[in-house]
Amino acid sequence: MLRHPFTRSVRPNRVYAKLKLAGFATSAIRNAVANRAVVFTANGNPAEVLRVQSYDPPSSPAPDSVQVRFRLSPINPSDINVVQGVYPATPMKMQLGGEDVHVGGNEGLAEVVEVGSEVQGLKKGDWVISAKPQAGTWSSFRTLRAEDVIKLPEGRLSEVNAATITASTVNPPTAYNMLHEFVHLKEGDWVLQNGANSAVGQAVIQIAARKGIKTINFVRNRPDLDHLMNQLAQLGATHVFTYDALSDKSLAKHVKQWTSESPIRLMLNCVSGPDTTAMTRLLGDNAHIVSYGAMSKKPLSLPTSLFIFKNLCAQGFWQSRWYQQHSRQERENLMKTLADFKLKEPEHEILDLSTESSDEAATQRLRDVLVKMEEGFGKKVLLRLG
Ligand SMILES: NC(=O)c1ccc[n+]([C@@H]2O[C@H](COP(=O)([O-])OP(=O)(O)OC[C@H]3O[C@@H](n4cnc5c(N)ncnc54)[C@H](OP(=O)(O)O)[C@@H]3O)[C@@H](O)[C@H]2O)c1
Repeated sequence: MLRHPFTRSVRPNRVYAKLKLAGFATSAIRNAVANRAVVFTANGNPAEVLRVQSYDPPSSPAPDSVQVRFRLSPINPSDINVVQGVYPATPMKMQLGGEDVHVGGNEGLAEVVEVGSEVQGLKKGDWVISAKPQAGTWSSFRTLRAEDVIKLPEGRLSEVNAATITASTVNPPTAYNMLHEFVHLKEGDWVLQNGANSAVGQAVIQIAARKGIKTINFVRNRPDLDHLMNQLAQLGATHVFTYDALSDKSLAKHVKQWTSESPIRLMLNCVSGPDTTAMTRLLGDNAHIVSYGAMSKKPLSLPTSLFIFKNLCAQGFWQSRWYQQHSRQERENLMKTLADFKLKEPEHEILDLSTESSDEAATQRLRDVLVKMEEGFGKKVLLRLG
C-alpha cells in the first residue's frame, strides 16, 4: 500500500474518519493518502471555528461524474465572511463522523483524477474549476458531476496563475465587469479606486492599463510602502496614494489638472468608511461609485450635495449575481477574454497543510495564518490540502 509521508504520524482513526456527503464517499479506503478538508460546524471567528479534518477518499465516480483533486484554493475575504456567517451564501455541507459540518472554499483549481464511464470531453489530468459556487474547495478530493465543471484552456499555466487569475471565478471577473458595466470608458479616461492592492484592485489596474484607461489608486500606509507603490506602478497604475493624502487639500487641485479633459466618472469602492467618503471629492459630474467590498467594516456615507449638484450615482456590484444572470456560454467567454489579458497573479503565499503530521498540527498552522490575515497579511493565501 502506498503511503503519503504525512500520514505516518496521523492516528488512523482520524485519517480514516467516516465522511458522508454528496460528492464525498463513505466507502472503503483505496489508498492511505489522508484527504483533508477545512471545515466548521458553527459560524464564528475563522481562527477559532475552522479546523482541518481528514476523511476517506471518494470512491470511483458515477458514470456522469469526475473525481477531482484540488491543487490550490484561495482564501478570499468572502470565504472568511461565509465562515463568520455574514455573507449571503450557503457553504457546502457534509457529515463527518456523524456530525454535520460545512466545508469552506468557493473557488479553486482542480485536476481531474478519475473520469466516469459516460463522461465526454474531460480526461484525467485536465485542469478544471467548479461551475457552482461554494463547492467546498478547501478539500483534497471531490466528486463532481461533469456538467458542473468547466475545463480550463490547455496551455502552459502555472498553478498559481490558474488558481488566482485564469481559473478565478471571483476577482478578475469582478474587476473586468466593474470596468465595463457601469460607465462607457474610452482610452484616456480615469478611474479612481481604493483597496488598490487587493486582488481585485490589481486586476483593475492591469485591465485598465491595457485599455489605455488611467487609474488613481489608494492603499493603506505600511512600512514597505515604496515596494507596494513600485509593484502597482509596474502593473500599470498611473498614480498611487495612501489614504493620508486625502487630508492634503492640494490633492484635489492636482487631480483636476490631470483629468481636466476627462473628469473621473467611475470610482470602485472595496473599503467604505470615511476615507472613501473623502475620495468622492475627486469625482467629476455624472460619476458612478460602484461598491463591491466593505473591508473597513464601516458604512459608506455620501454627501447629499454630490447627488444634487454632481448627479452622482451610487451602485453595488456582486459577481455572484452576474453569474446568476448570465449563461454558461457568457461565463466561458468572460474567462477567455480575461485569459487574453495575461494578468499577473497577486502576491501570494501557499499554505501547504498536506505536509503537516496531524490534523491538529494542520489546524494550528491554519489558525495562525488566519490571525495574521485578520491583522492585514498583505498577500493572497492559497491552500493546498493534499
Ligand atoms: N462584489 C463582488 O462580487 C466581489 C468579488 C470579489 C471580491 N469582492 C470583495 O472585494 C474585497 C477584496 O477582495 P480581494 O480578494 O481582492 O482581497 P485581498 O486580495 O484579500 O485584499 C484585501 C484588501 O483589503 C484591504 N483591507 C483589509 N482590511 C482593511 C481595512 N480595515 N481598511 C482598509 N482596507 C483594508 C487590504 O489592504 P492591506 O493590504 O492594507 O491590508 C487589501 O487591499 C473583499 O471585500 C471581497 O469580499 C467582492
